[in-house]
Amino acid sequence: MNAIELLLERQSDARLIEPGPNAQQLEIIQKAALKVPDHGGLRPWHFIVVAGESKNTLGDWFFEAATKEAFGERTIERAKSLPHRSPMLIIAIAKTVPNHSKVPWLEQVESAACATFAMQQAAFAQNLGAVWRTGEFATSKVIKEKLALADHDEIVGFLYIGTPEVQIKKQSRLEPEDFFTFL
Ligand SMILES: Cc1cc2nc3c(=O)[nH]c(=O)nc-3n(C[C@H](O)[C@H](O)[C@H](O)COP(=O)(O)O)c2cc1C
Repeated sequence: MNAIELLLERQSDARLIEPGPNAQQLEIIQKAALKVPDHGGLRPWHFIVVAGESKNTLGDWFFEAATKEAFGERTIERAKSLPHRSPMLIIAIAKTVPNHSKVPWLEQVESAACATFAMQQAAFAQNLGAVWRTGEFATSKVIKEKLALADHDEIVGFLYIGTPEVQIKKQSRLEPEDFFTFL
């Protein structure tokens, strides 16, 4: 796949099955995350790979968060199973420098968001599928505590990665002229 195909055809895949990324594919995904724009070179990122047994740990944390923070019956019921929706997931965290003199907090979070997207692209370019999810767990105090995050850190997303269960190309219905103007 060339770069233009990647940019124009990238899509999310929500239904992900085994196999997940192998060691080489994961390394490319990891390196892609570290190539993103980063104002001031702060490297305000941390990524946690969750696969195998550790999906049970994350599921337990989701359950605890959903119960303690009253996310609703349906979420509580599903909490333990959520990390099992793909072979691997990567928790993308903006590990920010608060009150930086030159780089606002938002720009640091934006850089971590770029990293999340870069990882999705790196997965897609290797014929894997991925979907970026957030939801209530991304802002949960319980989950932030479990991950030892400071108040000024942010969970930017949970990137679920695996093999798409169905190979269906999504067609874009968006037209540039609806979003771009020329000054
Ligand atoms: C910051 C962010 C958070 C998202 N959170 C969720 C989510 O929690 N659940 C979900 O189904 N999609 C979520 N999405 C949307 C999907 O990742 C995806 O972009 C969307 O389904 C459109 O599919 P496409 O990427 O193939 O266009 C999120 C996207 C972004 C950028």
